[in-house]
Amino acid sequence: MANIVIVSGSPSSTSRSEQVLLYLGKRVEQEGFSIKHISVKDVEAGDLLFGNFNSEQVKQISLELEQADGVIVGTPVYKSSYSGVLKALIDLLPQDILQDTPVLPLMTGGSASHLLAIEYTLKPLLASLKGQTIKGLYFQDSQLDKTRENPITDIEILERTEKQLDYFLGKVNQNIKYHRLVQVY
Ligand SMILES: Cc1cc2nc3c(=O)[nH]c(=O)nc-3n(C[C@H](O)[C@H](O)[C@H](O)COP(=O)(O)O)c2cc1C
Repeated sequence: MANIVIVSGSPSSTSRSEQVLLYLGKRVEQEGFSIKHISVKDVEAGDLLFGNFNSEQVKQISLELEQADGVIVGTPVYKSSYSGVLKALIDLLPQDILQDTPVLPLMTGGSASHLLAIEYTLKPLLASLKGQTIKGLYFQDSQLDKTRENPITDIEILERTEKQLDYFLGKVNQNIKYHRLVQVY
């Protein structure tokens, strides 16, 4: 069964972006994929702060990402960029960890002003790990209700989410087929 790893970059204990990621995880499972959730909150704060490349938790995360058939990465917008703690985790990962892996990037922000943060901050960051990013999703807080199991209240963005998810999972399946063919020949 294809396996999708979902990475949450919010330090918040009541995170909007994480609630969206949990919902996407359920949708991905409904489509027959297995999922694994990872959060920056799973990693010892000192390991992130002091850049501990020998952290067992980070090694485990690296292994899970390396074996993933597809990855979804979500983060809040903080000061017009991804969260600092997500960057602290990514700094500890091997450089090519997402080589040839389809990646769906996702951001939540307080307003539409930083809609392009996904393009000018998150995508370049994921490209540095050699991830194959697709278009991605940006949610404004006003389009979300984090108390609901499906937190996406805006119909238009919900439809966009379904389309992106469909496209992303299609890419994952194509990639798996391609790698099977390469192994045969
Ligand atoms: C420290 C901090 C900085 C923020 N900076 C921005 C910003 O520059 N632009 C923006 O649109 N929203 C900003 N926000 C709002 C968050 O991006 C938004 O509420 C997001 O949905 C929070 O996600 P989370 O609950 O998953 O942490 C900021 C919030 C915090 C706490």
